Amino acid sequence: MATVVREVSAKRKRILVVDDEESIQQLLQAVLSKEGYEVSVAGDGDEALKLVDQNAYDLIVLDIVMPGKNGLEVLKHIKGTERLKFVPVIIMTALMDRDVRYHALDLGVDEFLNKPIDIYELRARVRTLLSVKEYHDFLASLADMLKAEVDKKTKELREAQLETVRRLGRAAEFRDDETGNHILRMSIYCAILARRLGLSDEEVEMILYASPMHDVGKIGVPDKILLKPGKLDPDEWEIMKKHTVWGAEILSGSKSQLLETARTIALTHHEKWDGSGYPYGLSGEEIPLFGRICAISDVFDALTSERVYKPAYPNEKAFAIITEGRGKHFDPKVVDAFFASLDEILEVQSKHAETAKPWLWQFYEDRR
Ligand SMILES: [Fe+2]
Ligand SMILES: [Fe+2]
Repeated sequence: MATVVREVSAKRKRILVVDDEESIQQLLQAVLSKEGYEVSVAGDGDEALKLVDQNAYDLIVLDIVMPGKNGLEVLKHIKGTERLKFVPVIIMTALMDRDVRYHALDLGVDEFLNKPIDIYELRARVRTLLSVKEYHDFLASLADMLKAEVDKKTKELREAQLETVRRLGRAAEFRDDETGNHILRMSIYCAILARRLGLSDEEVEMILYASPMHDVGKIGVPDKILLKPGKLDPDEWEIMKKHTVWGAEILSGSKSQLLETARTIALTHHEKWDGSGYPYGLSGEEIPLFGRICAISDVFDALTSERVYKPAYPNEKAFAIITEGRGKHFDPKVVDAFFASLDEILEVQSKHAETAKPWLWQFYEDRR
């Protein structure tokens, strides 16, 4: 904070004097330069407007009656311009000009100086207004500094969250047979569907980053079940179903919106529209929308990929299964969004077909 104060006050103050009378220009320039200020002079209103738009002054001393634009017009421009409105303005006028004074007050003038100029008064007014300006500049730079600091911290926090997401997704992936690109494709499908359904950019990004953790609970499922090539028996199936609640437990209790979203997705991505899913048998819109979006993205990718218990199905077979599941397994609205987005989905499917492992990291790196 001390640094900011020093920076603000160490600057030599710049004053603009605007008057068409040469004798007044010379008087003001002499008096103010002697005080250590950097003084510029404009001989009429038009020149003054040009100078104020091109320079940063700390104070303006302004005459009223001038050729071209008059002092009130210049004042109006200064007080009506965002960048200039906090620059203090002193109007020089004869005591009798009551109407002019009222007009200037309405326009936001900061001080008056009577003509003929009293140099003692001039010095005192200038000093006072410059210290007000300095205080204002100090507050403005402090506000900028705080904002920059908050922005930086917010960015760092966000980076840390995304890092957590990536690592958790990766941990789950190590346990599973699901080959590398499954969670990448599935999370992009989720984002495509979210956008198609009219969700905000923020929500689209949220589902993109939260959905890779949908199966993080599989960390708790024993290998002999998780990697079993054949069908699971009823007891094994009960354990397998638990990956939803285990995932939610791993992700619960966070103040981060991203992890909270990931928790919701982990818990509800196996619920079905008709209430026959797990773990709670929720139905219809009781199932959070993100869960409904992930359900179809996850199933489509699982159907069209090879797994220990099945070969990869052709897209047509997957489309038939999804159509069959409309209003049963899947939210009809999301199924419609899926088919409306087919071109994009198939593009992602071929672009991120199975390859060597480090796809996801590259993908996230590219987005940073
Ligand atoms: Fe799952
Ligand atoms: Fe999955």
